[in-house]
Amino acid sequence: MPITMAASRENRHFLRRTVRHLTQLGVRQFLDIGAGLPSAGNVHEIAPEARVVYVDNDPVVIAHAEVLMAGGDGGQVRVIQGDVRDPNAILEDPQVIEHLDFGQPIGLLMVGLLHFVRDQEGAHQAVASCVSALAPGSYLVISHGTLDGFDPQKVAGVRSVYEHAMSYQMRTRAQIDRFFTGLELIEPGLVPITDWHPDGISEGVSGQEIGILGGLGRVPLPSAA
Ligand SMILES: C[S@@+](CC[C@H](N)C(=O)[O-])C[C@H]1O[C@@H](n2cnc3c(N)ncnc32)[C@H](O)[C@@H]1O
Repeated sequence: MPITMAASRENRHFLRRTVRHLTQLGVRQFLDIGAGLPSAGNVHEIAPEARVVYVDNDPVVIAHAEVLMAGGDGGQVRVIQGDVRDPNAILEDPQVIEHLDFGQPIGLLMVGLLHFVRDQEGAHQAVASCVSALAPGSYLVISHGTLDGFDPQKVAGVRSVYEHAMSYQMRTRAQIDRFFTGLELIEPGLVPITDWHPDGISEGVSGQEIGILGGLGRVPLPSAA
């Protein structure tokens, strides 16, 4: 799939646009699960004023992240090893508790993560557990691979590669939408990532080709009634 590189970069553009959007809404803390290597264009660079905790279950990612972060972030960033399939361990991690204020809005990022967690591993329960820990006015950002509308031959190609590499589950739009249960989906909703508030910086590929849907949901504020 030659489009994979462009798709990864578009996913980073989506991350950048959503984090920037959240900072404009006043969010000053981010919990980035499945963060990957904190390289150029990551959350702490897009939102330098914010407190950020990066979480990943890959020890190699963590080792690199700790070196990259050493001393250069003004104390705003923490990096921990954690697995989204054990959300309580993340939420109860001393570094998470010390660094983030769960009484204030948090941007919970699960960008390019959840297709690596199958239903039988508790994907939806894990997201619900994390969301339930967030204060009203917090946000959940998801981007997720989908095979909806994809060329069947490409689908077979993706399947055969991943089946030999790692656990994964592509989901339909409806299945991805379910992750936002109880949240208010922010306009434009769950859309191909290239269509989420585009800002002119793109890899020149269509959302349909990439096959990643993305969206932003808000934890509702208590009703005034
Ligand atoms: C495709 S990368 C996405 C990186 C980054 N969020 C982005 O959008 O560019 C997925 C990351 O999720 C991590 N990951 C996969 N399964 C995970 C799990 N169960 N818990 C935590 N992280 C996981 C991988 O190690 C990898 O770094």
